[in-house]
Amino acid sequence: MRRNRQKIKKERIGALMLLTIVQTVEELTRTETIDHLATVTREWMLPYADTVTDTRRGILDALEGRPAPGGFVVTATEERQLAGILVMLRTGMTGYIPPNLLLFLAVAPSKRRSGIGTLLVQTALRNTTGPVKLHVEADNPAKTLYEKIGFSTSYLDMRYKGSEEVG
Ligand SMILES: CC(C)(COP(=O)(O)OP(=O)(O)OC[C@H]1O[C@@H](n2cnc3c(N)ncnc32)[C@H](O)[C@@H]1OP(=O)(O)O)[C@@H](O)C(=O)NCCC(=O)NCCS
Repeated sequence: MRRNRQKIKKERIGALMLLTIVQTVEELTRTETIDHLATVTREWMLPYADTVTDTRRGILDALEGRPAPGGFVVTATEERQLAGILVMLRTGMTGYIPPNLLLFLAVAPSKRRSGIGTLLVQTALRNTTGPVKLHVEADNPAKTLYEKIGFSTSYLDMRYKGSEEVG
């Protein structure tokens, strides 16, 4: 438990904003459970959201690291209230595919356009080694946020739906 606590990195931004990096399930607080984070992330991601189950799976893959190579979650908290969340996954690949995938970025609707999304991404990038990929819908204003930070569009993302998912 002591080891896990030491892994948590907190940076105070201004007087009230607290950015916390969480790397394992054990480091989550009693109020920020996986279920709570999944529900809130999904709600805030709308209309670009995955299902709650998939959102929960993504957060767990970042924090459990099994079978995926893991990752981390960055939370932004204002006056003890969750204001934003980012989920970064390691892909386990390098060179041909970037080693990091920015999976979710969501800010509470009432807190938007005050720089929280930018702070979350910048904090995640400072704690990431190597290139980062992400998927963003062409009509999502988040595209501007990413471009301002330095992301650029290199590829079209094409999908073949395939049959039933495994696992
Ligand atoms: C996208 C999102 C995370 C942005 O969070 P945020 O805290 O509002 O972002 P920031 O305040 O750091 O915005 C940085 C810049 O991005 C651009 N931007 C962000 N939201 C925008 C919007 N709704 N319309 C136009 N530009 C926008 C602006 O250029 C903004 O700078 P400005 O406010 O000085 O003009 C937030 O709107 C959100 O949670 N959306 C729903 C979930 C989502 O789409 N996530 C991304 C999935 S890939």
